[in-house]
Amino acid sequence: MCGIIGYTGSKNALPILIHGLKKLEYRGYDSAGIALLSQGSIFIEKSKGNISNLERKLSNIKLTSNIGIGHTRWATHGEPSDINAHPHTNSINTIAIVHNGIIENYIELKELLEKNFNIKLKSETDTEVIAHLIDHLWNGNLLSTLYKVTQKLTGSYALSVIAKDDPNKIIAVRKDSPLIVGVGENENFIASDIPAILKYTKNVILIENNEFVEITKDYINIYDESGNSIERESIEITWQVEEAEKENFDHFTLKEIHEQPKTLKNILNHNIIKNKLNIQNLNITEEELRNFNKFYIVGCGTAYNAGLIGKYIFRKFVGIDIICEIASEFRYNDPIIDDKTLVICISQSGETLDTIQSIRLAKEKGAKILSIVNIIGSSITRESDYIFYTIGGPEIGVASTKIFTCQLLALNLIALEFGKLLKFLNDNQIEKFLKELQTIPEKAQTILDNTQKIKDIAHKQFQNENIFYMGRTLDMDISFEASLKLKEISYINSFAIGAGELKHGTIALVNDKTFVVALSTQDKLIEKMMANTKEVKARGAKVLAITKETLKFPNDCCDELILIPNTLDIFTPLLSIIPLQLFAYYVSTFRGNDVDKPRNLAKSVTVE
Ligand code: M6R
Repeated sequence: MCGIIGYTGSKNALPILIHGLKKLEYRGYDSAGIALLSQGSIFIEKSKGNISNLERKLSNIKLTSNIGIGHTRWATHGEPSDINAHPHTNSINTIAIVHNGIIENYIELKELLEKNFNIKLKSETDTEVIAHLIDHLWNGNLLSTLYKVTQKLTGSYALSVIAKDDPNKIIAVRKDSPLIVGVGENENFIASDIPAILKYTKNVILIENNEFVEITKDYINIYDESGNSIERESIEITWQVEEAEKENFDHFTLKEIHEQPKTLKNILNHNIIKNKLNIQNLNITEEELRNFNKFYIVGCGTAYNAGLIGKYIFRKFVGIDIICEIASEFRYNDPIIDDKTLVICISQSGETLDTIQSIRLAKEKGAKILSIVNIIGSSITRESDYIFYTIGGPEIGVASTKIFTCQLLALNLIALEFGKLLKFLNDNQIEKFLKELQTIPEKAQTILDNTQKIKDIAHKQFQNENIFYMGRTLDMDISFEASLKLKEISYINSFAIGAGELKHGTIALVNDKTFVVALSTQDKLIEKMMANTKEVKARGAKVLAITKETLKFPNDCCDELILIPNTLDIFTPLLSIIPLQLFAYYVSTFRGNDVDKPRNLAKSVTVE
């Protein structure tokens, strides 16, 4: 939620800030702004709406500056508006600040500023108080003033600040919101995430919680919360610049759907050597594993949906039951956890606050954390005992697509590793499963090669306001993800349900306007699913069935049929979601929506 960027160097800061904001726009896009330090004063421009609105406002600006900060916002306090957009300043415009996070005690601070110092706040945001506090506590040095200010703040923040009276530097600080430093030559950067700076440098320093950073064109200083200097090497990012570009696709979302054969193959190549499991960096021993007697999976949104499939995978490959919970629920429902508990946490960004808080709670009670994360060095990885990286490259579309299948594959590989360590599976069985998994990327490509059929179905249905999904077991859980995809990018009021549950109430909604997507990919359940599709068809619904090539789904049970290549039932989720990602994508584009940046959403949910 919200993206921040800062630049100091020998180049003109403005285009660099705008470029960075465009790359961070997936984090929030209801307003944007920049602040530049130039000729002894601070210039601010901000605008409601996306970055192009801001660019229009800036199109005639003559001023050049080598230092500035920028922000793209996902509103929490105060509606999206020019006034509430960041940067925020003190009353006399000598301090400008951008913020990602939430200041929980801002009302108290606001009252203090208003009553004791007669300061009138201009915006409704929680952020503006910080700019006034810096002013109020100003001691001529921005870094040491910020130390005093942060002692008064509760909540989460990544802050980036410039001050007219301590020029040529940006001071940044992080608490529970992501922050990185980009290391350049004669220039340095501050950002919420790597794509913002990838065009200029691949050398990145990850900033930890409660650390302060001082950057100028020539140096980067990092300090802990007591002011001690910290030495930290930069890491080299291996992403290619093109990975964060749309290339020939109309949207990042479409590009990312099409990248799945490649991302799946990368994970397989990385973790299987000569047909043997060789899970990179997981470093969990048999002894450690045998110590656990309770297993949870936690995550939010799509990551949680991947976890739902994880339940079946661990049952099959490890012979254990695993409890899968939504992170925001897990935190508050008193889970029974001790030092014999392993919590598997799934997150694309590694920055989702509810997920972070869940693992903190689990750790406090003695659990160990295994995280499945895409972003290297993100907050979750730093608080985990074991890490599996999904190495899917940047996922820019707000709707998660390619990382979902990476998460499913990760769960399969981890479960196979556990099955091996616990001797639940023998070498032959593992080899057989790995062999089958290695066919998945090619099978995913076959589905993508048949996009036109899915596009045609989407064209027939894009105006329909009643699109339901159903399935049983694995297919039910894929239905949840397929329905989430449709909801978030098409804004259709869709739901998903276990097909057997339909007649316990929900079938009352079905009529001749309903379009039902029936996932039926498992041999053992085909007849049950046929009966369920007949039930909805008898009430006038049209049915799209998704099934495997080898299963015979009769014509009188559906109106449209999409066949996915044959594979073991346990691996079908890796394939069956792909046509439904495409379906959601095309419905959304036919409706004229901004697929990559759906309304009200942000890619990285760093607030509760
Ligand atoms: O970065 P995370 O995987 O932790 O994010 C979790 C959810 O916020 C995320 O999956 C969200 O549901 C996506 N918009 C789904 O497409």
